[in-house]
Amino acid sequence: MLAMGRVGFIISSLLLLLASLTPKAWSKLIEANYDSFHAQSSNFAVSLALFCLSNYEPCDEVRGELKSAAETLQIYNYNASLISIDCDSQANTCRELDIISYPTLRIISNGSISRYRGSRDSKSIVSRLIKELDPLVWPLEDGYLEDIKSLSIPAVVIHVEESDHSTQKLVHAIAPGLKGRVVMGIVSHSDQDEPVERDLPFVDVHHPMDEVTRTFEGPVDEKTLDDFAQRVSRPIVGRFDPTTSEAYEESQIPLVYICADTDWERKQVAELVRSVATKNNGSLHFATLDTQRYGFHAHQLGLDIDKLPGLVVQDFLGKATFPLDQEKLITAELVDDFISSLL
Ligand SMILES: *[C@@H]1O[C@H](CO)[C@@H](O)[C@H](O)[C@H]1NC(C)=O
Ligand SMILES: *[C@@H]1O[C@H](CO)[C@@H](O)[C@H](O)[C@H]1NC(C)=O
Ligand SMILES: *[C@@H]1O[C@H](CO)[C@@H](O)[C@H](O)[C@H]1NC(C)=O
Repeated sequence: MLAMGRVGFIISSLLLLLASLTPKAWSKLIEANYDSFHAQSSNFAVSLALFCLSNYEPCDEVRGELKSAAETLQIYNYNASLISIDCDSQANTCRELDIISYPTLRIISNGSISRYRGSRDSKSIVSRLIKELDPLVWPLEDGYLEDIKSLSIPAVVIHVEESDHSTQKLVHAIAPGLKGRVVMGIVSHSDQDEPVERDLPFVDVHHPMDEVTRTFEGPVDEKTLDDFAQRVSRPIVGRFDPTTSEAYEESQIPLVYICADTDWERKQVAELVRSVATKNNGSLHFATLDTQRYGFHAHQLGLDIDKLPGLVVQDFLGKATFPLDQEKLITAELVDDFISSLL
């Protein structure tokens, strides 16, 4: 990271230049000199700068990708700029920024410069900049759906007709209230696209930490969708591992562990107990435990790890554990009765 010390000084002398930048000019690939490089990068939430030499083929290729990335970013009006600097004519700028090979890409965000480490195709570039911007609503056309799935927080994705402005508006209306807990995405379908199998609009959920599948039913209106997204932000059956264990313990709410060796078994049992978990929301937590990795923990909780899948309740306050009889087949009814007998 390299702090941009001179930016403040430069900005004051460049107000005139900036005033002449129209929004349309924003998302084009800007050919910059020292001054316009700093002006651009301090005037946008995030910038990507390409440092290159003229008449150098590898540079032309990356420049082409940047141009196409700029077009995509322009469509969505992102607060991002793409800058190209010719290190032949702007040698001092490149030297000052320690550019020693070409092409080099740097990301400038919130006053600091860092290396761009991703692939240099336009899609990866756009994805990287969108992640940096962390927008309230992600537009997901053109194959950007995978990006939202790769985030570590739940994503609620609404598929709409391109002309359905009212649904798009309501998604934008509820997104600020979900910031940091759930990301919202919109996939808009036009007549030219492949036909979709479901009636538009419809809602999909990608929840990296929920072992049960969350499905949205009911009308896509502001209240229903907002309520749903709020609920989705908390998993019905979460995952117990070193990253989540502390939160479970600190909540002091008794935890029902679903212990099994395979992902498939854990999800099967999670789906079985979904109704019990929903019914006991607030008084019990439910989470799976991967016994292939954390078998010792299941053993400590009193389960025979040779007879899995198994289920055990841990009462953090009373410091006691209650394994479900491992000779019995786990069913929703069995779990419901077992838990009722403990409460
Ligand atoms: C874009 O980001 C810059 C820097 O964070 C900010 O000053 C500016 O107001 C933003 N512009 C828009 C249109 O949001
Ligand atoms: C931007 O940088 C400032 C100062 O380094 C820091 O306080 C602030 O949290 C940063 N903002 C974001 C959005 O990262
Ligand atoms: C669980 O209960 C709380 C409060 O009782 C409620 O706000 C929340 O929406 C419920 N969550 C689910 C997933 O039903």
